[in-house]
Amino acid sequence: MAITHETEPDLNQDSTDAASGPDGSESPSGKNGGEPGSLLAVHNVERIFQTGGTAIHVLKGINMEVKPSQLVMLKGRSGSGKTTLLNSLGGLDVPSKGEIWFNGMPFSKMSDDERTLVRRKDMGFIFQAFALMPLLSAWENVELSLRMAGTPRSEWKERVEECLELVGLEKRMHHRPFELSGGEQQRVAIAKAIAHKPILLLADEPTAELDTAMSAQIMSVFQNIIRTERVSICMTTHDPTILEVADHVYEMVDGKFI
Ligand SMILES: Nc1ncnc2c1ncn2[C@@H]1O[C@H](COP(=O)(O)OP(=O)(O)OP(=O)(O)O)[C@@H](O)[C@H]1O
Ligand SMILES: [Mg+2]
Repeated sequence: MAITHETEPDLNQDSTDAASGPDGSESPSGKNGGEPGSLLAVHNVERIFQTGGTAIHVLKGINMEVKPSQLVMLKGRSGSGKTTLLNSLGGLDVPSKGEIWFNGMPFSKMSDDERTLVRRKDMGFIFQAFALMPLLSAWENVELSLRMAGTPRSEWKERVEECLELVGLEKRMHHRPFELSGGEQQRVAIAKAIAHKPILLLADEPTAELDTAMSAQIMSVFQNIIRTERVSICMTTHDPTILEVADHVYEMVDGKFI
């Protein structure tokens, strides 16, 4: 397995207090592109896909905000545009119009390379289908994420243990995914996503494949890591029962919030 130790420019240096981006562009509504102290600010975002000569208008003017240590949920019917929005928030996709500001930087206006560096350093992703390496143990899966992030090897052991304990898997550290329940696999995926200490966690339907009890466990893990790791979480869900623990819920209908 290749070990990558990348040296990345610290794009976030002092960026919490920045009122303008690296290119000097002004934030549309002040500090951090949103209310003071906002981690993520979305302004009039639209996404239009061109397929076979037809334009499909999926996001139709989204405005939203995520503050530090907040749990924000996006709910809405299948096809309403939740994943499309989440992909833009994580820089996996770029809006056709509008702006996304992240940690004081004009995220959606940055180059692909700049965005990739910011994403690797400051964001973590969790998907519906746990996305673990099947032949690696829980421990090795989390360690892999630290290798990829370029964390010094001397810090791996302590941080892997810390993350697996945080999600309540200290007794399953050496199990491989097929030896774990769905809820346990998702908790490994969470440990993996937070290992490099991101400030924003994006989760697309993280409880969709889990029963009610396991979903509740995942939500309490989320609440725990918001408290202890000072991370913000933005997640999509179909499940009305878990919306109660959100600090804020945005409801998406046909590409717009209502
Ligand atoms: N790359 C693409 N090209 C064309 N249309 C797309 C593309 N990606 C998504 N869409 C369309 O955008 C709409 C919204 O899709 P999206 O995946 O964001 O919905 P969703 O709210 O996440 O749904 P679900 O709850 O089923 O996951 C769908 O009609 C989809 O077909
Ligand atoms: Mg989706």
